[in-house]
Amino acid sequence: MNESFANRYFRAAVLYALIGMSWGIYMAISEDHGTYPAHAHLLLLGWASMALYGAIYRLCPKAADGTLPRIHFWLAQAALVVMIPGVALAHSGHAMGEPLAAVGSLATILAMALFALTVWRGTAA
Ligand code: HEM
Ligand code: HEM
Repeated sequence: MNESFANRYFRAAVLYALIGMSWGIYMAISEDHGTYPAHAHLLLLGWASMALYGAIYRLCPKAADGTLPRIHFWLAQAALVVMIPGVALAHSGHAMGEPLAAVGSLATILAMALFALTVWRGTAA
């Protein structure tokens, strides 16, 4: 059961990779790099971090026990889909981007705190 739990992170990570890389290619073709911090964080939090979360849960299966890791998964996804459009909007001059980026960032670090808890709990013995 825990083995298949990690798969959801891998499935999410590859989708974020495809979207993030497409965004990069779009920036390169359009010669408008204005939203690069959103591209960068979509790939760093969506592709790299989600893949790491999944790999760590696969390496430390005890950390994936219980409901906390499930809450972590959904909080991390919700945080990312709020934060990234927020950063993109903020970098293209839309006032509503800042609050979205702020809420998404705080949710992202909250998700990381949950992850830290699950990893410490699951690797204590
Ligand atoms: C098809 C693949 C990709 C393309 C076409 C692409 C394209 C770009 C472009 C055009 C920029 C703006 C550069 C600038 O104006 O300084 C950029 C920045 C960046 N990208 Fe990508 N990217 C790709 C994949 C990735 C991946 C896989 C990651 C991370 C895992 C990544 C992380 C970053 C970062 C961190 C920056 C900011 C770099 C800086 O501070 O100068 N990119 N990318
Ligand atoms: C809550 C999570 C995070 C927040 C709030 C955050 C915030 C920021 C901010 C404000 C910048 C400066 C952007 C600018 O120049 O306009 C930045 C840059 C950067 N961050 Fe993050 N970051 C987060 C997570 C991460 C993670 C997890 C990674 C790597 C795995 C990362 C890697 C970078 C890199 C490479 C840059 C320089 C490229 C760029 O400007 O986009 N960040 N970050």
